[in-house]
Amino acid sequence: MTQDFAHRQVVAWGASALLEFYLRFADSPRILSCIDSDPARHGAELRGVKIVAPAALDTLDRDTTLVVNFAIASPSIQAIQAELTGRGFTMGIDCTDFAEFARAGFQPRAQALLGRRFDEGLLAYARAFNLESNVPLETTVLGNWLLLEALRATTGMPGAIAEVGAFQCGNACLLLNAMSLWGDARSYYVFDSFRGFGGLSPQDPAELAGSYDVDYGASHILNRMRLYPQARVITGFVPESFREVPEGERFSLVFFDCDLYQPALDTFHFIWERLLPGGVLAIHDYVAADGGWTGIRAAAQEFFAGRGVPVHDLWETTMGIVFKPGTAP
Ligand SMILES: C[S@@+](CC[C@H](N)C(=O)[O-])C[C@H]1O[C@@H](n2cnc3c(N)ncnc32)[C@H](O)[C@@H]1O
Repeated sequence: MTQDFAHRQVVAWGASALLEFYLRFADSPRILSCIDSDPARHGAELRGVKIVAPAALDTLDRDTTLVVNFAIASPSIQAIQAELTGRGFTMGIDCTDFAEFARAGFQPRAQALLGRRFDEGLLAYARAFNLESNVPLETTVLGNWLLLEALRATTGMPGAIAEVGAFQCGNACLLLNAMSLWGDARSYYVFDSFRGFGGLSPQDPAELAGSYDVDYGASHILNRMRLYPQARVITGFVPESFREVPEGERFSLVFFDCDLYQPALDTFHFIWERLLPGGVLAIHDYVAADGGWTGIRAAAQEFFAGRGVPVHDLWETTMGIVFKPGTAP
């Protein structure tokens, strides 16, 4: 259901990187205030927008206000939506998620970049997966849509798919479910240490060092991926783990999402010569928030500027997109 939200006042829920990007990059951002569940943030401001407690919702005029869920990770998207539902808000009427809110601005730019008309059914699938699946997913919903469209754009190319940095494989499951249904049998490599970061570089934000420093149970992730015959899980730190890729393997679509400078640079070196002409490289966190994963843009600029290859950014997804020059085989 697409609603015309243009005449509504907008209250954000979630003082997230997406909200920061929206306030920084949207043509005419319009946010009245920002709800956040973290008491430590109440009273502070994000780019001039005041952060307040969820209790502020009780005094909102619901006929004139829209609450937009700005969370990125699916567990947070679900938690905020559960709060909104519990307070009597109705999806698509007085509340919605960032993907639906920002879709109209995003879609034309993304379509022009990929050179294809996007399928809104795939957006509906990505939104539903993020709101309903219990497999945690850390890509933005519009980023999921972009990757699904990139999958379609490269269908018929011979190379494999790779996701470098997969966490609990939420994004991988989303893409593999779609590929299974529409009969795309390309191999899908998953590279992850499944125990977080190997170490940070000076280009990375030191305060985020422990972000994935948890044992999140590789065995249940490995069993999850065994549901998909085309999944090839390679456990370990890149770049060492790249040694397990068969000689001669080529790629048509690669999604990099390891957060850090050195794995990014190592991945670009390994992948670029194996990415087929017409292939797509999507780089998560190429657009970083203040204090966020700033090493990714540094690595991408270092690697691609010298090669004269442009990185196109779509801030709504945090991603930079690179196309391998040449005609697809
Ligand atoms: C942001 S998460 C990936 C999220 C996933 N793409 C999704 O959308 O749900 C980053 C992952 O990168 C992995 N990682 C970071 N550095 C790595 C390295 N050098 N080698 C392998 N995995 C790494 C971490 O273990 C973590 O699971």
